[in-house]
Amino acid sequence: MISVSENNIFVLGNSGFSYIFRISPEGLLEHLHYGGSLKSPFNVPIHHRRTPRGAVSHYKGLENVNLNAMPQEYPVFGTSDYRFPAIHMIQASGNTISDFVYVGHEIVKDKPRLAGLPSARGGDSQTLILSLVDSLSNVEVKLYYTVWEDYGVIARSVVVTNNGQAAVNLNHIYSSAIDLPFADYESLHLSGTWAREMNACRHNLAPGRFTIDSARGTSSAAHHPFLAVLEQGAGETHGRVFASTLMYSGNFSMSAETSEFGDVRLLTGLNPFNFNWKLEPGERFTTPEALHVYSGSGLSEMSRLWHDFIRDKVSPPKFKNRARPTYINSWEASYFDIDEDKVLALSDKAVQLGVDMVVVDDGWFKGRRNDKTSLGDWTEDEGRFPSGMDALAKAVKAKGLKFGLWFEPEMVSPDSDLYRVHPDWAIHVLGRRTSLGRNQLTLDLSRPEVCDYIYDSLDTLLSDGNIDYVKWDMNRNMTDVGSAALSPDRQRETAHRYMLGLYGILDRLTAAYPDVQFENCASGGNRADLGMLFYMPQSWTSDMCDPVGRLSIINGLSYLYPLDTTASYIGPSPNHQNGRMSSIKTRYLAGIFCPAKGISLSNSDIDADFEALKTHMDYAKETQLEFLGGRFTRIAHTQNKTIWQYETSDKQTIYVAYFNILSAPNLPFERAYLRALPQGAVYICQDTDAAYSSDVLMHSGLPLPYITTDPAHDGDQGQGQNLYMDEGDFSAHLFTLKRSS
Ligand code: DGJ
Repeated sequence: MISVSENNIFVLGNSGFSYIFRISPEGLLEHLHYGGSLKSPFNVPIHHRRTPRGAVSHYKGLENVNLNAMPQEYPVFGTSDYRFPAIHMIQASGNTISDFVYVGHEIVKDKPRLAGLPSARGGDSQTLILSLVDSLSNVEVKLYYTVWEDYGVIARSVVVTNNGQAAVNLNHIYSSAIDLPFADYESLHLSGTWAREMNACRHNLAPGRFTIDSARGTSSAAHHPFLAVLEQGAGETHGRVFASTLMYSGNFSMSAETSEFGDVRLLTGLNPFNFNWKLEPGERFTTPEALHVYSGSGLSEMSRLWHDFIRDKVSPPKFKNRARPTYINSWEASYFDIDEDKVLALSDKAVQLGVDMVVVDDGWFKGRRNDKTSLGDWTEDEGRFPSGMDALAKAVKAKGLKFGLWFEPEMVSPDSDLYRVHPDWAIHVLGRRTSLGRNQLTLDLSRPEVCDYIYDSLDTLLSDGNIDYVKWDMNRNMTDVGSAALSPDRQRETAHRYMLGLYGILDRLTAAYPDVQFENCASGGNRADLGMLFYMPQSWTSDMCDPVGRLSIINGLSYLYPLDTTASYIGPSPNHQNGRMSSIKTRYLAGIFCPAKGISLSNSDIDADFEALKTHMDYAKETQLEFLGGRFTRIAHTQNKTIWQYETSDKQTIYVAYFNILSAPNLPFERAYLRALPQGAVYICQDTDAAYSSDVLMHSGLPLPYITTDPAHDGDQGQGQNLYMDEGDFSAHLFTLKRSS
């Protein structure tokens, strides 16, 4: 996995990729190769590296050593490189020029966990730790690289230690830099907003710097922390792809800078904007972990590499192959108008439907009748829940159900007992009126006493032992960022200290309650990142429950995330977000590959569609384990059509979900060309009894149902293998192909 030659060439990788750099004659880390696995990695070409070029500066006056054209592992600004640097440090003198030079390295078995931050788990892995020192300040930078035997991922993070005599300021610090050689590249990232998260955006990289970032105090739905740089024209099955993400839930920055020479620098890490970290002598700073994947054969392979890794090395292991309970959630059934009787009535419906769990969403706590009050006061509303939450949980469980409860622990309403006692516990700027988001303020999690309060509030309820599931919501971005507890020179540390506080709470809670299933939510997908998924097995990825909206959200998130990490429920029709009417079947099938499935409908809506809901919830229970650990593949996603393939982990079943958005007469007969099936396998289509070999499915295609309003006039010649979708707009079909040999 990691080897070093006598002349200090470092080779990291496995049979899938190689990542190579050397210690240059100048003592710098010079990047040599990232891409396909090399059989003779130490022979990687190093020519054209010290060649005269026009109008360049020479590092320390060394002839032709022009850092602006040298691919590096951890570049700085101001010593002949003019591109955006990986680190920018303000020295005690006020000067910002640093010169980090290699002093040594060690290779350790496995992978250390990052201090205070979520990080991928080791196992069959090695970590290279390189030490660089800036001699003037005596600040040490340690670069961590981990590679695994069986995964196509490289993890990088940085630890900075001030071994000097004076404080320095980290004005900006990225977790990784990768300098790719010249080529025509495109970028792919996921952008969106509330209820329209995760739209895939693709465009050419032009000279200059392309950045996606967040300064919202959450990774956010605006630009997800995922950036892929692709060889021009790369598609699902071909082309080189370099993809990155950051395991972090706050302000991040990811950029691709195309230099004047056409090289591309990828930076992944904390957002430098509005950030600073003061490092006193003896202090240490650890960056979040950047993760990188290389695929030599397009986006499907990239996603497969991410999915396998995230499932095995990021998601909480305890829930890996654990069936997710089916559930009824009270939110779109009753919104804030919730009480004990309604929860018990929903529980009776859950029993009739055979659903596993009832989740009481927002509105259950003291005085919470709308979104203007009570966040922070985590005791039940006695008027509406006179028996108390624990008694209610017991009553629900007595019906044979599990019980789930919603919290928004990081927030405080100005109209709350908590705020009246501790106004300084909210993030704010002294002397200014604070902006509100959904009428609420963000608690200052950079303060340990605030974190303790949050922990204790949840602990009080969870320790009764009757809560099986927690929906952890977070419904606003940060504004007016400042902490009453931090000194003036540390104010710009607030947002990152907040994240450290949040991760600390989650560390404690998940350790104390290992069997409680946490679901991550932030107005849907405003913080559906790997930092949160390290603690929580699933995310509520969007408040958009309309199936058409949901298809693009799932399609987009699948570039990075295995669908094992997602939940999806059948919401009302007309849909509350966009007014669209759609069938129960289409609403259900849009989330078919999300293993956590449920319903959020009122009792009368449930009654109106009881049979259809029962059929789908029964099916969801029957297949509870099928949609964990398998291989999801995007076959097609256009404005009018989505086709997804899913192969179960035992490779015995292929599911193909087909969605047609707007209907029209006389459409083409369509086929789905499946991918990556085992050679020589034969499948029986459960819908038609037709037998298909894997090569037919991949190369000749699976015939899709014909869209028509007139299936009655079928001239099928008695074979009975023609399928139709006759529901008009927003129709869907799920194929089940069982392997027979
Ligand atoms: C936003 C979430 O995304 C919804 O599912 C719901 O829990 C509301 N918050 C409750 O306020």
